[in-house]
Amino acid sequence: MLAELLSITKHYNQPGSSISNLVLDNISFQIADKERIAIVGPSGSGKSTLLNILGTLDKPTSGTVLLDGSTVESMDFDRLAGIRNSMIGFVFQMHHLLPQLTLLENVMLPLLPQKDKNSLKPAADRAKHLIERVGLSNHIHKYPSQLSVGECQRTAVIRALINQPRLLLADEPTGSLDAANATQLADLLIELNREQNVALVIVTHSMEIASKMDKIYHLRERKLMTGEIVNG
Ligand SMILES: Nc1ncnc2c1ncn2[C@@H]1O[C@H](COP(=O)(O)OP(=O)(O)OP(=O)(O)O)[C@@H](O)[C@H]1O
Ligand SMILES: [Mg+2]
Repeated sequence: MLAELLSITKHYNQPGSSISNLVLDNISFQIADKERIAIVGPSGSGKSTLLNILGTLDKPTSGTVLLDGSTVESMDFDRLAGIRNSMIGFVFQMHHLLPQLTLLENVMLPLLPQKDKNSLKPAADRAKHLIERVGLSNHIHKYPSQLSVGECQRTAVIRALINQPRLLLADEPTGSLDAANATQLADLLIELNREQNVALVIVTHSMEIASKMDKIYHLRERKLMTGEIVNG
């Protein structure tokens, strides 16, 4: 299994008080290679918390996270950072591109920690291929301020794919886009999911987008419930 959550519970402590707020209650689910999963639920239901735990950006209060069969809790800081960088790509609601870097430089940024400089040439070729793939070749030397919001989001998507991750986590990636651009970005994510052999977990408020995935999970009252299987 690519990724697995086993009996995940998450409490947040209220600052300066002994009251703790239970956000996720005994949640388990699995993600297979190349699978497409949507997570829907009301604002504040814990969708981002769940995605961040899955992406090892946050720790559960109890329960186990497994990536490719290995327990995340047992990994030291460097191993975890290495796995996160090589195995997982993130896309957020706001693109988080660096304003002082061009489109190409932003896409290549996740390659910086790589010690082996010989691998940079193929990586640069891959970056250019992906930029062309999403129709941004004419904008390669532009800065984020010179791009539309939709173009910035597409750039953020390919930046997340540059290290060939097996798991792409997207937290409301279409949240800052208008309806037409949102549908276009969701369709692009699905195409890339197939072409790049990357599993996709998308948090969305849009049932139209959620219904394009293999499975829909509803997060409600701290529990994760399975929705209907849409595409078989
Ligand atoms: N760092 C934190 N400290 C304390 N409480 C937090 C923290 N992060 C989130 N929460 C609380 O946990 C709950 C779930 O938050 P989360 O951001 O996961 O919700 P969400 O489903 O992603 O909401 P939205 O759809 O608005 O993005 C909320 O009640 C929130 O206030
Ligand atoms: Mg959220």
